[in-house]
Amino acid sequence: MANLLLVAGTRPEAIKMAPVIEQLRRLQLDFTFVWNGQHYDYKMSKIFFEQLDLPEPDDNLDVKSGSHAQQTAESMVKLEKIIRQYMPSIVVSEGDTNSVAAAAMTSVKCLVPFAHVEAGLRSWNPAMPEEINRKIADSVASLHFAPTKPSMLNLLFEGVSRERLHLTGNTIVDVVRKHRDAARELGERIMSELNVEKEKYLLVTIHRAENTDDPSKLENILAALRKLAREFTVVFPVHPRTKERIAQTSLEHPLEGIIGLEPLGYQEFLGLLMNCLIVLTDSGGVQEEACTVKVPTVTLR
Ligand code: UD1
Ligand code: UDP
Repeated sequence: MANLLLVAGTRPEAIKMAPVIEQLRRLQLDFTFVWNGQHYDYKMSKIFFEQLDLPEPDDNLDVKSGSHAQQTAESMVKLEKIIRQYMPSIVVSEGDTNSVAAAAMTSVKCLVPFAHVEAGLRSWNPAMPEEINRKIADSVASLHFAPTKPSMLNLLFEGVSRERLHLTGNTIVDVVRKHRDAARELGERIMSELNVEKEKYLLVTIHRAENTDDPSKLENILAALRKLAREFTVVFPVHPRTKERIAQTSLEHPLEGIIGLEPLGYQEFLGLLMNCLIVLTDSGGVQEEACTVKVPTVTLR
């Protein structure tokens, strides 16, 4: 019987759980890996299983897209069955997506303890769906793996007892360290394919609901990027949410002058990140990677 049940469901969770899985394998600990399927395109999910050597999921909940309530509820209903089937001694998730909130609530309601990787982050903005998800996860977790001292302090101030807290660092740093040499080489190849020069281009990622769901905000951001593209080379791998929202605008040439790309694989993206002049991003993970590889960042929040 598997002892640990790992639940992940989106691109950043696949990436940030990779070092946890690697360590579980090293320790020869038995675990079950459940993909909740919030992200499902090959380039948002399976590509990372392949590139980061994750196991094929034991189950895929196939939750896919929908409203917050739909994604969370469907995930809970399906996960409850899986938890009852495997009866793990603990459920582990990373981050602050709907997939994580659902895993946290379902496991504790099945009386299985929940462990939260990347615990204690706070934006102090209750309008952010991620802030609600991470607070739910932290409020029911029995074990908190905090990435930084401030995140640990947040939890202490919220009344989490010290013995449930572990200061671990952020697993993204392990991922970057493992892949940066290969990424550097791959980055050079991609730069030559795109005909862009080292430290002469801006890299952009945008996907937050706050930036994409309000058409006037999205149009403002795109206008700013097109303006930047008159002076700099701008490379923009487009998240599927953003692609869909851009298509809903009435703009005729929304990415005029910009090198728009499909979502990239991990080493491909890291390679472009390591070689860019500046990254402009609203991504949590990309900000953490950029400071790890010391690339100046403009945070679009
Ligand atoms: C989700 C997380 C966000 C995280 C991000 C990582 C929540 C509330 N949001 O946002 O915290 O930073 O993942 O990327 O959990 N889509 C596809 N194919 C896919 C996945 C999504 O086309 O494989 C499109 C669909 O149109 C979908 C939209 O993207 O409606 C949004 O997907 P969703 O998972 O709801 O939210 P994200 O914006 O990806
Ligand atoms: N990423 C990737 N390909 C891309 C864009 C991003 O592999 O085209 C990686 C990036 O290196 C980081 C993670 O995806 O590790 C961040 O995911 P995302 O921005 O979707 O979510 P967030 O971190 O904001 O939750």
